[in-house]
Amino acid sequence: MTAMVNRFSLAGRVAIVTGASSGLGVAFAQGLAEAGADLVLGARRADRLDITRKLVEAAGRRAITVPTDVSSPGDCQSLVDAAMTEFGRVDVLVNNAGIGTAVPAVRETPEEFEQVLDVNLNGCYWMAQACGRVMRPGSSIINISSVLGLTTAGLPQAAYSASKAGLMGLTRDLAQQWSGRRGIRVNALAPGFFSSEMTEQYRPGYLEQQLQRVPMGRMGDPAELATTVVFLASDAAGYVTGQTLAVDGGMTIA
Ligand SMILES: NC(=O)c1ccc[n+]([C@@H]2O[C@H](COP(=O)([O-])OP(=O)(O)OC[C@H]3O[C@@H](n4cnc5c(N)ncnc54)[C@H](OP(=O)(O)O)[C@@H]3O)[C@@H](O)[C@H]2O)c1
Repeated sequence: MTAMVNRFSLAGRVAIVTGASSGLGVAFAQGLAEAGADLVLGARRADRLDITRKLVEAAGRRAITVPTDVSSPGDCQSLVDAAMTEFGRVDVLVNNAGIGTAVPAVRETPEEFEQVLDVNLNGCYWMAQACGRVMRPGSSIINISSVLGLTTAGLPQAAYSASKAGLMGLTRDLAQQWSGRRGIRVNALAPGFFSSEMTEQYRPGYLEQQLQRVPMGRMGDPAELATTVVFLASDAAGYVTGQTLAVDGGMTIA
């Protein structure tokens, strides 16, 4: 490898990925493993985490699975404790676990709204807190936000949009608290449309209609998002912190 490519290497690093049981989280785990990291995989469905663990092992890296509900601060602490017990360090956190809902505002119950915030926003904070206490200088946190934190997409998604916009604020503040003093960079990604279990739930015709707003005219491939996660996780992004990077085929500039 050339010196330039070496800067993107995650050899010897340990990465936690939440929501690693389906969709983008699986692609992130695979991508980080292919870049050299060992993985700590968290989500609620243990059987599905096992499938991701085998993908990581097929890439030649080690992985452990930890059943985790990120809306529980105790579960988040246990996930980080398991990483420290097994690997003795945490270098990368990908806060990816999330739920998507679309409920008209006049009908949405307090419980429905709060659940989305509990998982998508609060869960990221519990994970970041637990990791921030043990991460060494040179570490990186990547929060998976959404273009829905920046714009709208024709569905009633107050809870989801608020949670994803909130995550951008959380990213900025943790970056200003930790980048200098602790040497932990904190950034966010704002993905556009990528196929996953979440996007399979859209009504027929919705995606085709939305793709008319996307200059590149297609959905993203999860591997195209995994490469940006590897970049932000690695020393290649050593001077990038507090940013939200849209990976959306141009949707937010159209
Ligand atoms: N796909 C897209 O186009 C797109 C666009 C923008 C942003 N995003 C964001 O990308 C992230 C991944 O979404 P996806 O599209 O890959 O959807 P997905 O296939 O539905 O995956 C969501 C993941 O989150 C986990 N999860 C949900 N609630 C959880 C909880 N309480 N505790 C722990 N894990 C939980 C799920 O695992 P369990 O059910 O096993 O717990 C699953 O692994 C989300 O944050 C989403 O908002 C996706």
